[in-house]
Amino acid sequence: MAKNTQYHCQQCGSVTPKWVGRCEACSAWNSIVEEQISSRPSLAKSAKSGRKIEFSTLEQESSKQGLVRMLSGISEFDRVTGGGIVPGSVLLIGGDPGIGKSTLLLQLACKLSHNQTQTVYITGEESADQVRLRGQRLGLKDSQIGIATATNASDIAETIRRSPELELLIIDSIQTMYLPALDSSPGTVSQVRASAQELIQAAKANDTALIFVGHVTKDGAIAGPRVLEHMVDSVLHFEGDRSHHFRILRGIKNRFGATDEIGVFEMTAAGLQQISNPSELFLAERTHEVAGTAVFAGIEGSRPLLVEIEALVAPSSLASPRRNVVGWESSRLAMLTAVLEARCGLPLSGRDIFLNVAGGMKIQEPAADLAVAAALISSVTTRPLPSRSVFFGEVALSAEIRQVSQADQRLKESEKLGFERAYLPKPRKRTNVKLGLELSYAENFSELIDILGGIS
Ligand code: TYD
Ligand code: MG
Repeated sequence: MAKNTQYHCQQCGSVTPKWVGRCEACSAWNSIVEEQISSRPSLAKSAKSGRKIEFSTLEQESSKQGLVRMLSGISEFDRVTGGGIVPGSVLLIGGDPGIGKSTLLLQLACKLSHNQTQTVYITGEESADQVRLRGQRLGLKDSQIGIATATNASDIAETIRRSPELELLIIDSIQTMYLPALDSSPGTVSQVRASAQELIQAAKANDTALIFVGHVTKDGAIAGPRVLEHMVDSVLHFEGDRSHHFRILRGIKNRFGATDEIGVFEMTAAGLQQISNPSELFLAERTHEVAGTAVFAGIEGSRPLLVEIEALVAPSSLASPRRNVVGWESSRLAMLTAVLEARCGLPLSGRDIFLNVAGGMKIQEPAADLAVAAALISSVTTRPLPSRSVFFGEVALSAEIRQVSQADQRLKESEKLGFERAYLPKPRKRTNVKLGLELSYAENFSELIDILGGIS
């Protein structure tokens, strides 16, 4: 077998002919690793002849009768996968170390095996005894799942081929797997790619669903080749702040459903518990009204989610004041502070600003602009915002407040949780929904400041 040396970037997977300190493709420092590539003779053989491909139509009956999704009964997980795991599909779950990926998957495997799904859990990171111990701690001991410690991807692929009854196989983690045919060490780009390919091929042929755990780099991307994300059907991220108990499972890619869904869990001494009404949880710590806090009525996927936003504006002793943001985009905060200062005269320059989304939640919606602005205004004026009120609306550079989608759903959820007032942009058409909430419309920031009692 002919061998040659290539240099692979461990961050983006690009190949360079010589070692360099910085990847030219993704600009990552010190990410280039030397790998031995063997040119496999089988490749040359298979290129020799081809055959005509048969086409089918979209209407045609599926070749497999009853392609039913595997429902785990953990509804937060089932929602994110788009209604259960599709047989023969491949799912990749990424997340920070210690966030609870192994715990989630062990609980999932047990739930599925209780539903008569043939499930095995293969770990390359812990011993079978450690997994068993964890299972006992989680109260899962009478479950029928198969547990094994293995890191050789060829062995696992062979096991899949010889076990036609196998319906779900969990690999924890793909970075520990290796193919003996390749010389590079486990976790390198070529090993991750080749092992994943080998396992996926075997699993697809057998209609076995695969779940890979993937490590993440310090920027939060799944470690290894980007191509891994293209090879799988769904990519989920398990995220959260380790100092908080809440964990959020977020869909990044899904070939079989929507990607904007989230599943909310709480890490307890007895493992992960699903939270079916997250708003209650995120607002639970809110005891009394203080200046600088506002409740945002957001939407995550198809569900409304109410979270508290805290802001603190304090005098700064630094030449360039601090802008510290947790759970929101700092560029968005920069825009908002500029608009508030330039259009409405809110004194923010020369002051430190700290912004925090309570509970370790990350907000991506621009609809949070109004709630953040209200929290900033309240912190500057040191007057608490009106009690039991929620905010939502997107802000334009002109300081106008724009409409956001699903206003009715946001209002209904707020009412359900006992809120009495909502601040929002004026809707273009009147809503037919009967609400017990009092609605305050603001067309721009100046109006909002007036409604909230002015700056002084
Ligand atoms: P783990 O699933 O091992 O994380 P990952 O596989 O993502 O690296 O979770 C480890 C953390 O979860 C650990 O810090 C302890 C915590 N934990 C609990 O709080 N309760 C539990 O029941 C379990 C099993 C773990
Ligand atoms: Mg783990």
